[in-house]
Amino acid sequence: MLKEIFEQQSKIREALAADVERAVALLKGQPQVAVVACGTSYYAGLVFKSLLQSRMGRPCEVIYGSEFAYVRTGNERCIVAISQSGETADTLSAVRLAKKSGAKIIAVTNVAGSSLCRESDANVMIGAGPELAVVATKSFTSQLAVLMKIALRLSGEKKKIAGLSSLSLEIENLLSRSKEIEGIAKELVAHRDFFFIGRSLSYPSALEGALKLKEITYLHAEAYPAGELKHGPLSLLEKGVVV
Ligand code: F6R
Repeated sequence: MLKEIFEQQSKIREALAADVERAVALLKGQPQVAVVACGTSYYAGLVFKSLLQSRMGRPCEVIYGSEFAYVRTGNERCIVAISQSGETADTLSAVRLAKKSGAKIIAVTNVAGSSLCRESDANVMIGAGPELAVVATKSFTSQLAVLMKIALRLSGEKKKIAGLSSLSLEIENLLSRSKEIEGIAKELVAHRDFFFIGRSLSYPSALEGALKLKEITYLHAEAYPAGELKHGPLSLLEKGVVV
């Protein structure tokens, strides 16, 4: 997993080189977009929604694959299905349902030739390479890079796309502080409860942080939008809980 975390600086460059033209063409005329995904990919979808809605005024909803059957309107015309593996059953069943009512499908995935690719009208490959440690690490940041590129292409902000090229260096700088990060981990190792909080674009990162911590350590971790911490969860914040 560490090896894959350290691959992010190079993988992000590949993600930013992804061909997004067909996806952008499909999205252009759509008044509303729905994203379907699960787990980490769902959190990447939340970032995409934030970019489309608050920065471009384009309505977008993000739906868990397993919930799609219950909340869909049947009028979804364009679905962005995000899946690292391209094989997640809940995401695939949502896609198949949407297709039945005539939706176009854009797949954002890491595996060429996956079931999701075969079901889709446009494929955007994130190019992260295999996630051998199973949990999503580099594929999350690659998904974010590709989704940002799509959002910026849609809004015609070419200069900002060029600006994304600094991401690789920023990741490298952050990962070069691994001794410092290890120090923080050593300090936290005795703790059992963790709250991750963040606002706006940082909220999906908080969700992803909590998911990653619980998957890897089997410890209790949850995430809240920063402002929500005072609306209930505060009662759990006692000595020893890490926020
Ligand atoms: C998190 C993780 C899972 C997946 C989820 C969706 O580390 O691995 O939460 O993100 O099962 O998988 P994909 O993206 O392959 O559809």
